[in-house]
Amino acid sequence: MSKQILVSGIKPTGDLHLGNYFGAIKQFVEMQKNKGFDSFVFLADYHALNSVQNREEMKKLSFDLICAYIACGLDPKKIVLYRQSQIPEHAELTWIFNTLVTMPWLMRAHAFKDAEAKDKDINIGTFDYPVLMAADILMYNADVVPVGKDQIQHIEMAREIARKFNQTFGEVFKEPKEIVKEEVATVLGIDGQKMSKSYKNVIPLFGSEEDVKKAVMGIVTDSKGKDDAKNPEEVVVYQIYKLLADEAERKVMEEGLRNGGLGYGEAKQILLNKVLAYFGAMKKKYDELQKKPKKIYAILEKGEKKARKIAQKKMLEVKKLVGLI
Ligand code: ADP
Ligand code: TRP
Repeated sequence: MSKQILVSGIKPTGDLHLGNYFGAIKQFVEMQKNKGFDSFVFLADYHALNSVQNREEMKKLSFDLICAYIACGLDPKKIVLYRQSQIPEHAELTWIFNTLVTMPWLMRAHAFKDAEAKDKDINIGTFDYPVLMAADILMYNADVVPVGKDQIQHIEMAREIARKFNQTFGEVFKEPKEIVKEEVATVLGIDGQKMSKSYKNVIPLFGSEEDVKKAVMGIVTDSKGKDDAKNPEEVVVYQIYKLLADEAERKVMEEGLRNGGLGYGEAKQILLNKVLAYFGAMKKKYDELQKKPKKIYAILEKGEKKARKIAQKKMLEVKKLVGLI
């Protein structure tokens, strides 16, 4: 059977957190082990440019994200790793797709609606976000796109764009499917809402011990005392701990909360130790990679060469169908 193609990316727009790890990166790493997939994982730096408009910041966040990908277990020998901006065909394909979609259709995107509701000044890049994302995905004939729940609409839009192009010019794009792992669809932040850098409620992946401690100790709780019985499903500390703990450890915390005897302070300490242990080796690797920019850029150039070859071939097909060549 031929291999399935996996495509996914993350924007370098802020420090990574547990939501990014469990909602996205961990899945990329797990699927890389599955021989049935050819994976393309990239840095969505053109998407990030919508909000990161400072040279030094963009360079640092991009470099950090690539270090994080590798530190978390992505193996550039097994997958194709690249920066979106180094494959100019993504922007070219976006332009062609732009001529097929309408403004009212793009206005249906949740991200646009949210920005509008907040009265934000929306740049055209943000408005066009789903179209660039469709180009990222359709360029490589993706079968599957692992993402968090918030991205499902974007994958639906990519499918619609594929269909529209195929109907208008001829079959060339495959319709991709999202993969959303239900148990990690929404990782909670320290305030009990979705963990997100925009809500400033994150537990950082590679922060200092002090930063991680500050975040974990700041997780919301109610006013129940140590010996009160608590419903674990309503305890944010437990909801996060579940992602990291093995079955036996999870049960100990669950019972301690349910039956009383485990206070929030102690539960937080258990979670803190677990977070530091779970990400300890990854953080060590991340810190080492940070000192090796040459190595990192060499890895990227290799990946970009491979990705570009595929993208160029695809654009040739597309341009022929459209009548540009
Ligand atoms: P943020 O919300 O912090 O800005 P991004 O939008 O950059 O994060 O998300 C990058 C990837 O991480 C996406 O695949 C997204 O779905 C996933 N992700 C982000 N936050 C969470 C979360 N709280 N739970 C699950 N997945 C998440
Ligand atoms: N929009 C995605 C996010 O916010 C990032 C992204 C850009 C992406 N292009 C993509 C994800 C293509 C999957 C496939 O997380």
